[in-house]
Amino acid sequence: MKQATYHDEVVWIVGASSGIGAALARELSARGATLALSARRQDELEALRAELGERHKAFPLDVSDAETTLRTAQAIRAAYGRIDRVVFMAAAYAPMPLGALDLTVTKAIVDVNLTGAFYLLSAVLPIFNTQSRRGQIALCGSVAGYIGLPGGQPYSATKAAMINLAETLQAECGDRVDVKLISPGFVRTPLTDKNTFAMPMMIEPEQAAREIADGLQARAFEIHFPKKFTLLLKFLRLLPYGLALRLTRKIKP
Ligand SMILES: NC(=O)c1ccc[n+]([C@@H]2O[C@H](COP(=O)([O-])OP(=O)(O)OC[C@H]3O[C@@H](n4cnc5c(N)ncnc54)[C@H](OP(=O)(O)O)[C@@H]3O)[C@@H](O)[C@H]2O)c1
Repeated sequence: MKQATYHDEVVWIVGASSGIGAALARELSARGATLALSARRQDELEALRAELGERHKAFPLDVSDAETTLRTAQAIRAAYGRIDRVVFMAAAYAPMPLGALDLTVTKAIVDVNLTGAFYLLSAVLPIFNTQSRRGQIALCGSVAGYIGLPGGQPYSATKAAMINLAETLQAECGDRVDVKLISPGFVRTPLTDKNTFAMPMMIEPEQAAREIADGLQARAFEIHFPKKFTLLLKFLRLLPYGLALRLTRKIKP
């Protein structure tokens, strides 16, 4: 199959400073894209920009701040004249049992993973409306959002919401905007380094990046990988609740 290329395309990656987002930046840069790189850690972004080359730019951003997100979207548009694709990879993660929630951390996770996605949409959709070329928004969910499993909260609830948000965006704006949902299984990154449990079928960020780079130009709404793992969890989601919940109760976090 011919590899998807990105020459003459401006791609904004939010969450580019580490993990899958940084690997995706390397992959898209190699395939010809011009990148706007965002996350909070300016040093990491600048190092990545220096590695990838002069045509890319860093736009440091805390996506849980609505005003900064809006100004950053406008600054990228002003710098490049347009934005062709936006990939929302930013997320905060700290697993905790529902019986012992740290509410400050819970709010911080929701602020980045979910509220941040709304801030991004609100900043980007008006820009897309003024452009002649159809824009793309790719939102990163997770298989953790497919069905509630023990031990993943509050992160997993934000990922379930992200799936719903992407579905609604496709239903409402799909004629004007190309919407993609990214659903990774386990990928070796600073995020999964926090896990102490076994992570089956874990892949490297470079493989995840190749899947995403191909998937952004494919027809399918969802980009999910690795397929052996994601299809298993999709099957669990299809079961009647009575059976599915009996199975999920047996899983130990
Ligand atoms: N790794 C997996 O197994 C896995 C599985 C399913 C889904 N995912 C999803 O994949 C995406 C990337 O995760 P990852 O595994 O690559 O983790 P990661 O290395 O921790 O990357 C998270 C990124 O989000 C950025 N970020 C965090 N808070 C932010 C904020 N307030 N504003 C802007 N950027 C912020 C981080 O940069 P700064 O700290 O510099 O801000 C970093 O670039 C996430 O959406 C995650 O939920 C990952």
